[in-house]
Amino acid sequence: MEITEIRKDIPMLDEIIYMDAASTTPTPKPVVEAMCDYYYNYNANIGRGAYRTAVKAGNEFEKARSKVARFINSKPEEIIFTKNTTEAINLVAHGLDFKKDDSVVVSNIEHHSNFLPWLNLKKRGVNLKVIKADKYGVVDAGDFENAIDDTTKLVALTHVSNAIGSVQPVYEVGEITEEKNVLYLVDAAQSAGHMKLDVKKLKSDFTAFPGHKGLLGPVGTGFLCCHAGSMDKLQPENLGGGTVFDVTEKDFKLEEGHARFEGGTQNIAGVIGLGTAVDYINRIGLEKIEKHSRELTSLMFDEVSKVENTTVYGNPEDIYGIVAFNINGANPHDVAKILDELRRICVRSGHHCAIPAIRHTGAYELGGSVRASIHCYNTKEEVQILGETLKEVSQFFGA
Ligand SMILES: Cc1ncc(COP(=O)(O)O)c(C=O)c1O
Repeated sequence: MEITEIRKDIPMLDEIIYMDAASTTPTPKPVVEAMCDYYYNYNANIGRGAYRTAVKAGNEFEKARSKVARFINSKPEEIIFTKNTTEAINLVAHGLDFKKDDSVVVSNIEHHSNFLPWLNLKKRGVNLKVIKADKYGVVDAGDFENAIDDTTKLVALTHVSNAIGSVQPVYEVGEITEEKNVLYLVDAAQSAGHMKLDVKKLKSDFTAFPGHKGLLGPVGTGFLCCHAGSMDKLQPENLGGGTVFDVTEKDFKLEEGHARFEGGTQNIAGVIGLGTAVDYINRIGLEKIEKHSRELTSLMFDEVSKVENTTVYGNPEDIYGIVAFNINGANPHDVAKILDELRRICVRSGHHCAIPAIRHTGAYELGGSVRASIHCYNTKEEVQILGETLKEVSQFFGA
């Protein structure tokens, strides 16, 4: 599929320059249509009804599970659907049997969703060891190796930083955690759908995914992939309909596998839409997406760097899909608002739900940074318009 075809499927791109893929992505028409098809033609609950419409809904839901599993080289039985990445990570933080004096190793460039659930374990006597990234926002796998000791229960690391765009050595850390026999969680929020991702090669026990970002699925979708028996290490918290095999007045027996974690009525339309989104990404081709995104990221870094009086974060060699910057002396929210006012360019501004990471870049006192993030539907022309518009904006602030 060519960019022009993709853009036809996303009508809002005729009106705006959307550069906020790191927050959420627009939903292409075939994904919306798959959800409409469910609502119009077989809107029934899953796993409960014997009638054909309910069976069809259940089958379509499970087809989506198979599609997302295949996409990341996993198996359907390893996938737990959630409403987003945050819920997937919390499922692990709440579900593992942490004991007093256990420790978790994490980095300082995480999104809050892969930091707070671990920090919160302090209440249970769990210690957090925080590995500091280098000045470009990249961690050293060796620092993780050194931090792991007898108390370490889990290592958690993001694949791509949402604040800087820096790509982390998740595969190297996977080798280390495997050798040291500690659990490993990868936050794939900024890489899934943007680049090839193979959970077997990652060697992670848990990988948390959004459906609504790089995969181009609907909001309200995400999933946790638990491999090689790691699901059995989790206790579900959200008990109720769908999670239980048998109940007496005194006791209950949970379902086996992912069903025990998917309590209550699921986001059926959303998950079916997510399955279609995976088909859509496959139609475009991940290799093509990756090549396009690398070229565009590099162009965007150059365009923004050319703007006078501007600080750009990260190293162009290390970043992917995201360029974070500040116009010196300007509040990032003002810059974002002006970009919108002048050319309808949609970028994120502020702390990007990653305050430790923003502190690390030195941008905390500046109110954070401006962040432009792209995907397969963005064009070179759009990136050039961003660069040109930023030159105008920087004039307002006295460059
Ligand atoms: C790296 C990272 N992790 C986790 C999240 C949380 O994702 P979600 O909104 O799907 O819960 C985000 C969101 O931007 C993110 O960028």
